[in-house]
Amino acid sequence: MLEITPITPTLGAEVCGIDLSADLSDNLFGAVRDAFNQHSVLLFRGQEMSPEQQVKFSARFGKLMVHVLKESLLEGHPEIYRLSNVVKDGIPQGRANAGQYWHSDLSYEAQPSLGSVLYGIEVPKVGGDTLFTSTAHAYETLSPTMQSFLKGLTGVHQFAHAFRGRTTSPTLSQAKLEERPPVEHPVVRRHQDNGRDCLFVNPGFTINIKELEDQESEILLDFLYAHMTKPEYVLRHKWLPGDVVLWDNRALMHTGVNDYDAASPRHMHRTTIEDAA
Ligand code: OGA
Ligand code: MN
Repeated sequence: MLEITPITPTLGAEVCGIDLSADLSDNLFGAVRDAFNQHSVLLFRGQEMSPEQQVKFSARFGKLMVHVLKESLLEGHPEIYRLSNVVKDGIPQGRANAGQYWHSDLSYEAQPSLGSVLYGIEVPKVGGDTLFTSTAHAYETLSPTMQSFLKGLTGVHQFAHAFRGRTTSPTLSQAKLEERPPVEHPVVRRHQDNGRDCLFVNPGFTINIKELEDQESEILLDFLYAHMTKPEYVLRHKWLPGDVVLWDNRALMHTGVNDYDAASPRHMHRTTIEDAA
């Protein structure tokens, strides 16, 4: 029996009574998918998944995406993107300090992401939490006038934006960053599976709003980001080894927090599902 317990009033639920490494029946998978569409973040504790099992579970939601940073992919499993601060024999075992800015995974792709599955294999005892906030709730708490204004607007997104004005790692060349050209998405997107309107702009990848002057765009985006990240809207996930967190990139933004001891290993496997809609 699945037991689903909400984590905050606006998003997140812990799911007990399921082994993600097993072949899930259509019924059981359907219950997980329904909970995912309702809560946007699902936490499964105490899991143990091989790369094949993670790929298999994730692929039930849709086609898996391969990340632009090839050196961070798991050998033999290009669908698995490694987040890791571990260095073995001088070779980084994944991308260190990934996603430490509010973002929706791969919003810079023409076909953005439905969701991500992040499996915490080794995690620091303290620190290195991940924060989530609901972009559906953020939209719903704006005035009707602001909501209808936003509905006519288009956001411009690019991968390279995340690195502008930030220290970038020496392995990330400008050419690599520019590999993905800017793409456009509506500022408000209707969620295909729950019908809620969601804001789809984020500090990580959104360059500007196409219809506005630069200063207007900057001020509006700053306002929206401040609104979306109000403390009362934020879920803070503290990782334990064996945690699997599944999140809905259509309905939230998230950020990593770089507050942990660099000497404590943090090693995770992520799969990213494409939004076929
Ligand atoms: C990600 C991400 C943040 C973290 O995996 O997509 O943004 O806390 N991770 O590792
Ligand atoms: Mn991310």
